Amino acid sequence: MAAAVKALLGSSLATSRLCGCVNFSKRLYSRSAKRVRVHDALKSTETGSTIRIQGWVRSVRSQKHNVFLHVSDGSSLQPLQVVASSDLNPRNLSFGCAVDITGNLEKSPSKKQNVELQASHIDVVGECNPVDFPFKIKGHHSLEYIRQFPHLRCRTNAFSALLRIRSQATDAIHSFFRDNNFVQIHTPVITSNDCEGAGELFQVEPAGNEWNLDEENPHFFSVPAYLTVSGQLHLEAMSGAFPAVYTFGPTFRAENSQTRRHLAEFYMVEAEIAFAESLKDLMEVMERLFKTTTDNLLSHCAEDMELFHKYLSPGYMEQVNLMMKRNFNVISYTEAIDVLNRSSEQFTFKPEWGCDLQTEHEKYIVQHCGNVPVFVTDYPYELKPFYARDNQDQPQHTAAAVDLLVPGVGELCGGSLREERLELLRTRLAQAGLDNTYTWYLQLREFGSVPHGGFGMGFERYLQCVLGIDNIKDTIPFARFSRSCVL
Ligand code: 4AD
Repeated sequence: MAAAVKALLGSSLATSRLCGCVNFSKRLYSRSAKRVRVHDALKSTETGSTIRIQGWVRSVRSQKHNVFLHVSDGSSLQPLQVVASSDLNPRNLSFGCAVDITGNLEKSPSKKQNVELQASHIDVVGECNPVDFPFKIKGHHSLEYIRQFPHLRCRTNAFSALLRIRSQATDAIHSFFRDNNFVQIHTPVITSNDCEGAGELFQVEPAGNEWNLDEENPHFFSVPAYLTVSGQLHLEAMSGAFPAVYTFGPTFRAENSQTRRHLAEFYMVEAEIAFAESLKDLMEVMERLFKTTTDNLLSHCAEDMELFHKYLSPGYMEQVNLMMKRNFNVISYTEAIDVLNRSSEQFTFKPEWGCDLQTEHEKYIVQHCGNVPVFVTDYPYELKPFYARDNQDQPQHTAAAVDLLVPGVGELCGGSLREERLELLRTRLAQAGLDNTYTWYLQLREFGSVPHGGFGMGFERYLQCVLGIDNIKDTIPFARFSRSCVL
């Protein structure tokens, strides 16, 4: 028996719970067979072994003597074909139901799969009424349609593929940082700072009033506290002892934007690098992070990626290949404004030096760069938060900040060198009326300050970009956005 098939996955506790509704003799029989994931059964080259699989029925086809099932357990895109004699066919077997099946793994006569399970026992663990079930047996459901069922959409091929890719990408990102000697820091979810200074904060207070909060003592934490918009400032504190740190966790923005690339809760990958002296040091890490993670996905999730590249965003593989093959472009913000002003495109927002790039501008710049990701550097100083390093250039006063723009999405990463010079930082904070709030941040510059910088990459936007997904709500298990918090 193949090693993969030999791997016993189930605990007896889980086993007895799942089989609670079948008769005792069947349960004993089933228990003695080895529980195997569909993914491992499909890879098995040794046939003839008795195995047991647990999963959900993706299709049922009855013939005169046999019934054919496809069973999925989330471990692979491809289901396992199960063949059973018609008299084994339980009455309540249907599309969508949960099953526990024991049988012999045999070579399949069909060219569509190597192996199939010839069932000796089929237990329906959980029934499913296919008439009421929102997904239909042969239905091609769009991402938009399945989005209406956030509690059920993991049962579709498309969303289960997305979730496997998301899980693998998470692993790949952690591996990237580990392989490059970054230390992972768990930055707090609840914080008293507004790192980006944009005021897009969710405030955190207890729901009830057992704490007797009143006008004199209005806050649970004594100060106003918020869900984090970025772990950057905490990472900067850690950069005082570690040359390279990162964090990867949920981030919250109370943005009133209902766009296809904004969420109120999203995951951000943030890195901070001490002794970084130029934006080049940051751009090099961003490009390698993007390419190493994508390369990992293409080799570990080939089938799932193909589902997106072939069927959900046809032709998108070419775009991914282009991004992987070519060096990312670099242009300055000032050059970008020139490019926009020289174009014949009719923009809704007129491009102007000193104003933020709008989505339509970002899209145009990426196209102008041959649909290869592009770093836009050195933004107007006044557009960037207090922490961005002053380039001290005249007359076009800029900050050492960089955004990475990518096809289909626009801004994927935002980063900067941080102002490490105490007096310049003190002045900027005082101008913004923040010097008292950030005394601890100023202290970081008093004691062993070094040039440093970092960036944040939106994880859901990354998935949009490598899979060609139009709407960010289709990249996260449970999307939160303004006016919607379902489940
Ligand atoms: O450009 P941002 O705001 O940068 C920061 O927060 C820095 N403090 C990060 C750092 O330097 N450590 O956000 C970084 C990225 C954006 O480029 C975008 O990809 C993503 O986070 N992002 C969002 N993704 C989904 N929904 C939103 N509302 C997002 N806002 C930002």
